[in-house]
Amino acid sequence: MPTIRNIVILTGAGISAESGIDTFRSEGGLWERHRVEDVATPEAFARDPDLVLRFYDMRRAAIQTKQPNAAHRALARLDAAWPGDLLIVTQNVDDLHERGGARRVLHMHGEHLNAWCTACDARSPWTAPLLHRPPCPACGTSALRPDIVWFGEMPYRMDEIHAALRQADLFVSIGTSGAVYPAAGFVRGARDLGIPTLELNLEHSKGSAWFDETRLGPATEVVPAWVDQMLASV
Ligand code: OAD
Ligand code: ZN
Repeated sequence: MPTIRNIVILTGAGISAESGIDTFRSEGGLWERHRVEDVATPEAFARDPDLVLRFYDMRRAAIQTKQPNAAHRALARLDAAWPGDLLIVTQNVDDLHERGGARRVLHMHGEHLNAWCTACDARSPWTAPLLHRPPCPACGTSALRPDIVWFGEMPYRMDEIHAALRQADLFVSIGTSGAVYPAAGFVRGARDLGIPTLELNLEHSKGSAWFDETRLGPATEVVPAWVDQMLASV
């Protein structure tokens, strides 16, 4: 195997599932209980802002009661000890990677614990509800929305992600169903660049066939085991 220095890790809802945060597409998942078109599009926000704000207020409150699990902590352990570059690109809008101790985390779908002002464009750390239309800390206007990338909107930090992939020696995908682009396309991008690809997931994802290797199991088991293997190679 060629020497691995730089690692890009993509994570999805599956890594936070054992922390008690709902995934989107599993049985009983969030998108079974809520219609995407009602709560996760700019059109929904324009049509019924109270419904959308209430949905995200509940989710924002919920994640603050959850704790990082062994998979988040294992990635932080790898981050601390790995001699090359390690970047975690997450589709998750929770902060469990950070609370688990990871250093470089890029939230391509936004973050529950940020509010985004549609008047002045400022982003502010936010833990409270938004339903009562609090003023923006930067400009005072009551025009805050969740800093979440809704369907039809452009994911964040794509240039940085592509740049990191071009420098990567290994691409690892953890706990994502491969249903949402552009994240679902990273594996094919990595393959085109000749980078080895590994998937860690509870079950086969839509993109499993694209990976060089897939290891199935709960994140709290397969992720620490993979991290131990990587660290043993250092
Ligand atoms: P999904 O809910 O689509 O997929 C979660 C994946 O995690 C599935 O493949 C499960 O099999 C797997 N999984 C479940 N429990 C697991 C466990 N304990 N250990 C390991 N894997 C487990 O979530 P994402 O792929 O993250 O976007 O969804 C992508 C995007 O779609 C989300 O970021 C969200 C959603 O719409 C926005 O809200 C912008
Ligand atoms: Zn503002």
